[in-house]
Order: sequence, then C-alpha cells, then structure tokens
Amino acid sequence: MITLSRVSRSFGAVAALEEIDLSIAEGEFVAVIGRSGCGKSTLLRLIAGLLPATAGTVTVEGTPVTAPRRSIALMQQQPALLPWRTALDNVMLPVEIAKLPRPPHRTRAAELLDAAGLAGFHDRHPYELSGGMQQRVALCRALIQQPRVLLMDEPFSALDALTREDLAAQLQDLHLARPATTVFVTHSIQEAVLLADRVVVLTPRPGRVRKVLDVDIARPRSLGHSAALPAVAECVAHLHDLLA
Ligand SMILES: Nc1ncnc2c1ncn2[C@@H]1O[C@H](COP(=O)(O)OP(=O)(O)O)[C@@H](O)[C@H]1O
Ligand SMILES: [Mg+2]
Repeated sequence: MITLSRVSRSFGAVAALEEIDLSIAEGEFVAVIGRSGCGKSTLLRLIAGLLPATAGTVTVEGTPVTAPRRSIALMQQQPALLPWRTALDNVMLPVEIAKLPRPPHRTRAAELLDAAGLAGFHDRHPYELSGGMQQRVALCRALIQQPRVLLMDEPFSALDALTREDLAAQLQDLHLARPATTVFVTHSIQEAVLLADRVVVLTPRPGRVRKVLDVDIARPRSLGHSAALPAVAECVAHLHDLLA
C-alpha cells in the first residue's frame, strides 16, 4: 500500500532522513518512534505528497506520490480548526474544498462526531471545546473523505495523559471497525505498543530505520489491562533499549 525505497531528504546541508526502506501493507497500523528532530514529521510529509524526496521514491497505492491526494489524510499535532466554524463545519471543510456533494457528507460528518463522543457539540465553536475535543474534531475531519491512508503526526501529544489514553483507545476501536492503512508518529512507547502492528524505530538525525519491531499482542489492547502482560512488558523494554 505504501512503499518507500531508499528515500532520503535533506534541507540544505542538513540530512533529515537517509535511505529509508519501508513497506506498509493495506490496513496495517504502523507506529514510527524516534527522538525529536530525527525526521518523523518529514517522513509523513513525504508520504502525504507535501514534500518531495531528495532521493528515492515514495509509492502509495502503486503510483509514485508527487502531490497531495484525496485518499491520503494527514492529522497534525495541533488540531488547527478554523475558529469561526462550528465543529460540524470544520469536519465539512475538506468536502467543501473538494467540491463533493454536501448533504450525504453532512450526515456522515454528524455520524463521525457522534462516534467520537461529540454528540451534542456539533454546533460548538473550537473555543468552546477542550483540547481533547478539538483533536477529536480534527480526527473526524481527517476521516470525512474515507481516506485509504491515514497519517498522524503526534496527534495526542499536546493532551493530558488520561485524555490521551481515551483517544488512543478510541482510535484503536475505529481502526478495528474500519482499518485504514495508518502511519502514526509518536514519542510514546506505550502508545506505540497499544496501537501498532509494527513499530519502526528511527535513529537520531539523520533518521535511518534502526529496527522494525512486530507487536504480536492480541487486540483489543488496553493500556490498563495489557500493561501487565509479559509480551507487552517485553516489547516496551525492547523499545526503550532501541531508543536509548
Ligand atoms: N522545512 C524545513 N527547512 C529546514 N529544515 C527542516 C525543515 N523541516 C525539517 N527540517 C529539519 O529536518 C530535521 C527533521 O525534522 P522533523 O522531520 O520535523 O523531525 P521530527 O518530527 O522527528 O522532530 C530537523 O533537523 C529539522 O530542523
Ligand atoms: Mg515532528
């Protein structure tokens, strides 16, 4: 579904990513973890078609990515909602930009907001919502066009720990119900082990693939209940060592 072959990206003299080889299967959930500045955001922007590679090729659904596509959604760390639009109208923004028919998408937007725990908040403006609720709206906005590929750049890192856990659990449910191919960048080992089928560990800058770790733990997983499982503890310890 997503293939990177020998992908490098530099900014002037700064090498951000070097010779990344990675293949992600349809419906797979891959977490990317690495230190600040190792090129995680750059990697997502390359896959999203927002940034060209300096060398190598990025292919999504069989064709090289040269520009943003409707089938690829990117969710950033900050929700970046339009303050003058309601939650529902923020979710509708990509539909309006793509000039898709509004009525069916409005119904879908409302369903997504309900599923995200925002029933009763459709008509609120961003300033009336907590950070976690705003990020839920941003997730609905990323999902409104039914993307085949969902790219998430530390989407929960600005939130408090409990809200983060809630959102991660909800993301897992969403993924189990309707698995889009997902690349999820995080600083959190726990989040990676909760969510991912595989974890890609990058080296410090320039980012190279240090290791790809399989997470063979039954789903649904939960931070509370799975933490005590030996397989989870082993995976967490292994990732700590790789990042040390
Ligand atoms: N647009 C840019 N111009 C110049 N340097 C950049 C740009 N984007 C990223 N970089 C540099 O590339 C490296 C990787 O950045 P980034 O992908 O944001 O890392 P991460 O998301 O892992 O923290 C950093 O050294 C950063 O300063
Ligand atoms: Mg980043």
